[in-house]
Amino acid sequence: MSSLDRSDPVILGHILAEHHELFAQITAVRTAFADPDACGPDESRCAACRATVLASLHIVREHLRSHFAHEEEGGFLEESIARMPRLAANANVILSQHPALLAEVDAVISKLSTGDGSQAVWKQAGCDFESFATHIMSHEKLENSVIQDGYNEDLGLID
Ligand SMILES: [Fe+2]
Ligand SMILES: [Fe+2]
Repeated sequence: MSSLDRSDPVILGHILAEHHELFAQITAVRTAFADPDACGPDESRCAACRATVLASLHIVREHLRSHFAHEEEGGFLEESIARMPRLAANANVILSQHPALLAEVDAVISKLSTGDGSQAVWKQAGCDFESFATHIMSHEKLENSVIQDGYNEDLGLID
């Protein structure tokens, strides 16, 4: 076994733990969006409610930024390609999606930060966040399949 092989489980363990954490943070944003106590009679939202959702969105945003940096610097995608060259196309798709995913979260933050707190703004922001959540889930699913194929191990990552 090379030293690279010995370090792989550590790198992969970090990435997988970050995926777990990200999903928990996405759930926290959903919970904040859904909080029924924060709705006024016309379903507009108060400043405290906006602050709670924005705080949870900033946590997702920061986690995503550092997670993507770890993935881009970690070398596990390159290692997967080295082990199995046919994975190159999917690995390139994965890396190319990172900027757009960050931009989606930024757009939701911007909408809520500058919006008037009306029902329409909240509804749109919630829909945009769900759209981001769908995209990040399929991104991570593709990533997990590349890791699993590249390392030729059943890591229990695929549903
Ligand atoms: Fe990624
Ligand atoms: Fe990831």
